[in-house]
Amino acid sequence: MTAEIINGKELSTKLKASMKIETETLKRKGIVPHLTVVLVGDNPASRSYVSGKEKASQEIGMSSEVIELPTTISETELLALIQQLNDKPSVHGILVQLPLPPHIKEQHIIEAIHPSKDVDGFHPLSIGRMITGQDTFISCTPYGIMEMLRSKNISIEGKHAVVIGRSNIVGKPIGQLLLNENATVTYCHSKTVDLKAYTTQADILIVATGVPQMINADHIKKGAVVIDVGINRNEEGKLVGDVDFESVKEKAAFITPVPRGVGPMTITMLLKNTLKAAKGLAGN
Ligand code: GUN
Repeated sequence: MTAEIINGKELSTKLKASMKIETETLKRKGIVPHLTVVLVGDNPASRSYVSGKEKASQEIGMSSEVIELPTTISETELLALIQQLNDKPSVHGILVQLPLPPHIKEQHIIEAIHPSKDVDGFHPLSIGRMITGQDTFISCTPYGIMEMLRSKNISIEGKHAVVIGRSNIVGKPIGQLLLNENATVTYCHSKTVDLKAYTTQADILIVATGVPQMINADHIKKGAVVIDVGINRNEEGKLVGDVDFESVKEKAAFITPVPRGVGPMTITMLLKNTLKAAKGLAGN
């Protein structure tokens, strides 16, 4: 069996085309969807993610700005800025790029963003609403994964979904979203004993470990759906996922590649959340 590839780049292009139309419609009503991204310090990876977000916003005609701040900014100053953005009606979505410098408590910042502008879906209210199955902002990577599964009509109900990784951004929320769709969910992580015993039982395997190519064909049940959240560079500088794509694609039914897999979907879902925020203010 050679797996069918779930191409996140192609799906993103399709979703962005319809979001462009939605943006135009909102603009005609006098609402210009606007995303404000706050970047603290000069972490090159963060800078690259932020410029990707800006470019994608422009592509669909959405307005965006990046507020760049020095690493020396205090938590109090950053909280004051967030308050200003919360109070500004023209700002629909606020995203503070993580990680933040160690003297700033990320949770304080996340909780300061007004839930109606929480396009990252990181606020405890958004997370609580997501877990209880209510309409809310879903954090972008898990939201993108769910869209990828939907795009291939992959059934989730009754399936055994195994999630490797328990981050607040990806692992924990994707498990909850799959549970909301009636999957039986197992979480594995760095302290799991005998990982293979779990992964070989997975109908749907979500890999978000940050360890390059750690999952190979021996970890996979034949016909599984394999979603690779990893973006790593190997020794030759080539982008690779957490899954050994070449071996796993011979055994899985569906697989996401790296690059052109989950990565492009994350930014696309951020745009979708920003449109949702803008429409909320429009009273739609
Ligand atoms: N850093 C890495 N991924 C993300 C993300 O999705 N949102 C924010 N705010 N920071 C990040």
